[in-house]
Amino acid sequence: MSDKRLLVVYHSQTGGTRRMLDAVLRGAADPDCGQPALVLREALRASVEDVRAADGILLGTPENFGYMSGALKDFFDRIYYPCLEHTRGLPFAMFIRGGNDGSGAVSSVRRIVTGLGWREVAPPVIFAGAFDEARLGECEQLGQTLAAGLSARIF
Ligand SMILES: Cc1cc2nc3c(=O)[nH]c(=O)nc-3n(C[C@H](O)[C@H](O)[C@H](O)COP(=O)(O)O)c2cc1C
Repeated sequence: MSDKRLLVVYHSQTGGTRRMLDAVLRGAADPDCGQPALVLREALRASVEDVRAADGILLGTPENFGYMSGALKDFFDRIYYPCLEHTRGLPFAMFIRGGNDGSGAVSSVRRIVTGLGWREVAPPVIFAGAFDEARLGECEQLGQTLAAGLSARIF
């Protein structure tokens, strides 16, 4: 098990993002990917301390009204200034569930993390339209990428 800590912050109202999350977590726990300590937090419960203690972060959210979910926005509202001077360069990636799009959620997250100075180390996984089980491997791969990259100190 590596000494790295991967924080996963997510919100899901009707379970779609949650299904993506389960695959992301499976990948992040892959014994071949270094096994960083995984810290899972629902967005409304994730804290400043969680973020400041993290070596990397995965964000999962539905797209609501062309934006990230209100819960993830609440997370950023609470952590932004307390983390601003302490988390520059933090590697992150995101997974998005949209009814028909997802790009608005991606750009809304990017606007905020650009201010925080976090580094996007993998392309977002976006599931839009009918839920496609066949693509859950992409979520698993995202978890593997973050876990392996942190553990091998690539990020
Ligand atoms: C209030 C609300 C607003 C939504 N707005 C969008 C949107 O702007 N774009 C989109 O692609 N889907 C939109 N959706 C659809 C959700 O993204 C979709 O239902 C998704 O599966 C929700 O994720 P969850 O199952 O993890 O809660 C919206 C859903 C709700 C309830």
